[in-house]
Amino acid sequence: MNISIIGVVGAGIMGSGIAQVAARAGFNVVMRDISDSFVSRGMTAIGKNMDREVQKNRLTREEADAVLNRVKGTTDLGDLAGCDFVIEAAVEQIELKKNIFRELDKFCRPGTIFASNTSGLSITEMAAASGRPAKFIGMHFFNPVPVMRLVELIKGAETDDSTYEAASDLAKKFGKEPIMVNEAPLFAVNRILVPMLNEAMFVLMEGVASAEDIDKGMVLGANHPMGPLALSDLIGLDTLLMVMETLYNETGDSKYRPCPLLRKKVRAGHLGRKTGRGFYEYESK
Ligand code: CAA
Repeated sequence: MNISIIGVVGAGIMGSGIAQVAARAGFNVVMRDISDSFVSRGMTAIGKNMDREVQKNRLTREEADAVLNRVKGTTDLGDLAGCDFVIEAAVEQIELKKNIFRELDKFCRPGTIFASNTSGLSITEMAAASGRPAKFIGMHFFNPVPVMRLVELIKGAETDDSTYEAASDLAKKFGKEPIMVNEAPLFAVNRILVPMLNEAMFVLMEGVASAEDIDKGMVLGANHPMGPLALSDLIGLDTLLMVMETLYNETGDSKYRPCPLLRKKVRAGHLGRKTGRGFYEYESK
């Protein structure tokens, strides 16, 4: 399948990261969010990363500008009509995502593949709403997208082999390593990772250890690149809560109950790095 224009729905941490790796790999990208300020925040994030690539002599200024120029920002979903492959990275709400795919189905050609970057919602349910279940797949990137090498590819009940192959080829062109996962709540990696992060919050809430010592313990004692509470702040506590709730609701297993401290922080609006405060405080968002 010949793919040249990639649509990205969502210009947040994940959407702008996906747009960046796609543009860096030479694809033209249309990145859509619901407001101009969200779109420009995503473009600014890509611009900053390109500046760093220039500073580190990995790209010339001209090459970095060319990457940025390949990303077109928009608030109009209809601007994704010409895309060959659309990756959705909107907030983790199933009804919202289903509506996006219903709308996209009206604009995009029948052959256009739709992918969701959901962290764990049902691919089959979104595929059914998309009007093109055979051409629908889960394509789960990891944060920070430009750095993390993995992409989980999740087959829904009706995803066909050609869709899987196209998504796998695309992930490789983005410089990523795909793994194949059958649909299950939270897929494979988050099913293992997110309960560990949730458990770190219980350890903090119960006063077993301080945030700093929990993180130090997992960095020095388990060789993790960063501690679980710092990683939670990086991912975003609102996202983590929604992901944890999906696992709990889908399985009905009490071992997956979200930590009350996570819920409290989300209710207070302390969502991690993106709001400047989560388990830690940050000078720049
Ligand atoms: N965007 C782009 N590049 C970034 C970046 C970002 N947000 N953050 C860091 N980098 C780059 C840096 O520029 C640097 O690049 P070079 O070495 O090539 O110059 C490199 O990453 C290392 O960064 P730092 O030296 O600043 O810091 P570090 O060595 O501590 O690495 C880290 C930072 C890459 C985030 C590392 O701590 C790490 O790998 N942490 C774990 C991340 C992780 O587990 N992610 C998965 C989250 S789960 C998820 O995403 C799934 C979900 O659905 C919830």
